[in-house]
Amino acid sequence: MWDRLITDCHVATMVAQPGNPLGIFPNAAIGIDGGRIVRVGKRTELAGFRAREVVACGGAWITPGLVDCHTHLVFGGTRANEHAMRRAGATYEDIAKAGGGIASTVGATRAASADQLRESARRRLHALMEGGVTTVEIKSGYGLDTAAEMRLLNVAKAIGREEPVRIVGTLLAAHALPAEAKEGAARDAYVKMIAEEMIPAVARAGLATSVDAFCETIAFTAQEVEKVFTAARANGLPVRLHAEQLSNQKGAELAARYKALSADHLEHLGSAGARAMAAAGTVAVLLPGAFYALNEKKKPPVDMLRDAGVPIAIATDCNPGTSPLLNPQLVMNMACTLFGLTPEEAIAGMTINAARALGLAHEIGSIEAGKAADLCVWQIDELSELGYWIGMPGPARRMFAGQDA
Ligand code: NIG
Ligand code: FE
Repeated sequence: MWDRLITDCHVATMVAQPGNPLGIFPNAAIGIDGGRIVRVGKRTELAGFRAREVVACGGAWITPGLVDCHTHLVFGGTRANEHAMRRAGATYEDIAKAGGGIASTVGATRAASADQLRESARRRLHALMEGGVTTVEIKSGYGLDTAAEMRLLNVAKAIGREEPVRIVGTLLAAHALPAEAKEGAARDAYVKMIAEEMIPAVARAGLATSVDAFCETIAFTAQEVEKVFTAARANGLPVRLHAEQLSNQKGAELAARYKALSADHLEHLGSAGARAMAAAGTVAVLLPGAFYALNEKKKPPVDMLRDAGVPIAIATDCNPGTSPLLNPQLVMNMACTLFGLTPEEAIAGMTINAARALGLAHEIGSIEAGKAADLCVWQIDELSELGYWIGMPGPARRMFAGQDA
């Protein structure tokens, strides 16, 4: 006897089959027990199974719970002023060089109490959850010293204990140089501290499952990132990279050399980077919110990624500066409209490929026996509506570990 039998639905399992890339079962049913999927198949195939509760979905579509694999959700303040500055012609780099940008959020974050950080992040998290998100990755990166970075990761972890959602912490200490360590010996010392102090401390405390960095002219050089990655590897943590967002720093090649889970942004990716990512199994995480908010003109080379066979994920990149975006449906729509993804690619980008980018494809991202029963029930006639509506409401029902939540 199972806990639940979900029936009268069409299911996009996201388990690719020949001629059926999203693994769609029309007229399907899903068995759930102990918070896990135990069976998925045609409704007729599951007709003989009994469950304590039968959930009839009235012909709705079911997808895996959405996975937002790149966010900076925990921060103090906002940067609405920079939005105004950009309208007056300032670029992201201009603002960063003038002491705004990430540095201003670092100030506001350090000044906020843990309670303030938790409650503001919770409000943003609730918006994502209403949009059907069941797993959210949250990066640190607005603390920039060991205690402050660990505080952000602790806040993220605490919210995950209190809310029906899976939170995945990522250490992004190499996000920006602290104001007091921009050049010379202080700069070297900051990178050394990330490698020798922060990464081991975060790994010991179990606060992050990967280490990220921002490789860019206004952030860290490839050589500096390499030191961070070497330490991550020594501490058993996989890496990810903010790569080729504003210029080509060969970040994708660097990420691939370290078998990175993902390289993210990639507007300026070249073909050598794409080939290296494909060979390493590194997922491309595209972030249309940042592209849109910065009014970028150069799009990530989606055809090149497809040709090379790089899996494509998409995410909100929710952050106060470049992507104040809290609607996963809008991400799917923007990925289609701005970047040229197909609706199918957009759906895969927020489910199975996002799970891959987090190293969690064994646990989430598709509807398969053995995986967590994280599901969205969508009141739509056609699955492609998920990339079609511009900021549509979230799912009619969201299940986390088999429970409505
Ligand atoms: O993913 N590119 C760097 N990091 C963030 C921006 C963070 C910020 O501006 O606060 C991003 O776009
Ligand atoms: Fe980011």
